[in-house]
Amino acid sequence: MSINIRIAGVSHWFASPEDPVLDGVNLNLDAGQTLSIVGESGCGKSTLLHMIAGMLQPRTGRVYVGGQPALAPNPRWNIMFQRSALYPWLTVVKNVALGLEFAGIRKGRRARALAMLERVGLADRADAHPQDLSGGQQQRVALARSLVVSPSVILLDEPFSALDTFTRSDLQAEVLSIVAEQGITLVQVTHDLDEAVIMGDRIAVMERHPGRIHGVIENRMPAPRQPGRPGFAEMRDELLAAFGRARRNPLSTDTRPSQAPVAVNA
Ligand SMILES: Nc1ncnc2c1ncn2[C@@H]1O[C@H](COP(=O)(O)OP(=O)(O)OP(=O)(O)O)[C@@H](O)[C@H]1O
Ligand SMILES: [Mg+2]
Repeated sequence: MSINIRIAGVSHWFASPEDPVLDGVNLNLDAGQTLSIVGESGCGKSTLLHMIAGMLQPRTGRVYVGGQPALAPNPRWNIMFQRSALYPWLTVVKNVALGLEFAGIRKGRRARALAMLERVGLADRADAHPQDLSGGQQQRVALARSLVVSPSVILLDEPFSALDTFTRSDLQAEVLSIVAEQGITLVQVTHDLDEAVIMGDRIAVMERHPGRIHGVIENRMPAPRQPGRPGFAEMRDELLAAFGRARRNPLSTDTRPSQAPVAVNA
């Protein structure tokens, strides 16, 4: 069953209230929708994901997942961290099966883990240990561990950052197909604007210091959203312009308003 996400008036600070990390963030995501979040390093993207995952409580405001306050981690909402740790003493397939164990699934764990490893292209490394894999392969194991539990919500923090273009493109398609098959609500942080357009039905552009939602762009491109297809370059340009404005970069020459309305704090 897919579930919605509502981020309502979320503000947060770590060191001091005078130095807020997030400031008045409002964002709604329908059940089964996908959202890309882009923004400069340090703008609070990972902090926001941790809040949706129920791992961190905002100082003010609240995050609701499926209508319930996200007060604690839930095995049906799965997060893949920016630096996901694999257990070095477990084989690849056991690392993936661990996701199922955490979710309380007893039967058929190895078979399900192997099937997911197949989908991320790593079935042949099932019995290797993580330290014998490349960084990109380790990322794919962490991704498989997140997806294997058929979560209702999946939160991915730069899941493809260590991958080559072709592997990345295959995995983007694979994740989108799993998400569509199972009606998963997806939030994905990325630094890659092409990826934001490929993955997100909506794209949130953040400002930094304090972290705010500069605007939310509705992705008008029909799936499959691939570079080179009609409409892709326009969406990417629109996103790039919004990103430039969000950075308030004096070197940015593009001060035009975007073609499509950008809903602030939608
Ligand atoms: N536990 C913490 N204690 C203190 N400050 C923190 C903590 N976690 C994050 N911060 C600070 O909050 C700000 C936002 O951090 P966050 O990790 O959310 O950024 P980000 O947008 O994910 O950046 P990046 O793109 O580099 O991953 C940063 O200035 C960071 O130093
Ligand atoms: Mg981050």
